[in-house]
Amino acid sequence: MSIIAKHVGKTIGEPPTRILTDISLEIRDGEFLALTGRSGSGKSTLLYLLSSLDTPSEGDIEIEGRKVSRMETETLHRFRNETMGFIFQFYYLLADLNVVENVLMPARKPGKENEKRPYAESLLERFGLADKMHRLPRQLSGGEQQRVAIARALVMEPKYVFADEPTGSLDSVNGENVMNLIQYANEKLKTTIIMVTHEQDFARLAKRQIQLVDGKIF
Ligand SMILES: Nc1ncnc2c1ncn2[C@@H]1O[C@H](COP(=O)(O)OP(=O)(O)OP(=O)(O)O)[C@@H](O)[C@H]1O
Ligand SMILES: [Mg+2]
Repeated sequence: MSIIAKHVGKTIGEPPTRILTDISLEIRDGEFLALTGRSGSGKSTLLYLLSSLDTPSEGDIEIEGRKVSRMETETLHRFRNETMGFIFQFYYLLADLNVVENVLMPARKPGKENEKRPYAESLLERFGLADKMHRLPRQLSGGEQQRVAIARALVMEPKYVFADEPTGSLDSVNGENVMNLIQYANEKLKTTIIMVTHEQDFARLAKRQIQLVDGKIF
């Protein structure tokens, strides 16, 4: 199974500004793909299209053989929740929930909080946060908060993880820690990773790199 983009384009605004042009690519299960390119080249936009958070202006995105544009909103939400995890530059943890509750957020809507709790705790232990499970996000460092966000992205055992500059707010030591966990997810949990980064050292850890220049694959 795979994610396929076929001649995807994106324009925004009125008059329309072109952001992406004729993107075709296939991401197979188990891949670790880095999307690179300069600021404004369209990396985040492409990531959101590939993950169905945004819709293309032209072309099609197919996930597991299904055209995202044809899926109903409710179906798409459930599908995304079951198969995809997300990691962002700024963590987006909920301030009033403790660490383990944050990790279990994706399990709430499908009513799987109790079922997933042991797995959430085991991820946090593996990520070096065993003694911090009941802290609030503000009582953690940035690197720790991002590790919580990675555990949250993995808790539903998604097939795909989409990461937009996951090391962008971190110093190099914490950035390396985060990359280790992303590699762990790819190699040990067999999660397909699609990661936007402009840090070459981190992009090199991916098995495949795609560079965007002015909204096109270079
Ligand atoms: N909602 C929007 N309205 C107008 N223009 C937008 C919008 N979103 C993105 N753009 C423009 O589209 C282009 C690509 O944006 P995008 O965020 O995908 O770039 P990026 O490669 O992720 O950049 P960065 O490395 O700075 O995050 C940029 O020129 C940006 O200004
Ligand atoms: Mg971006």
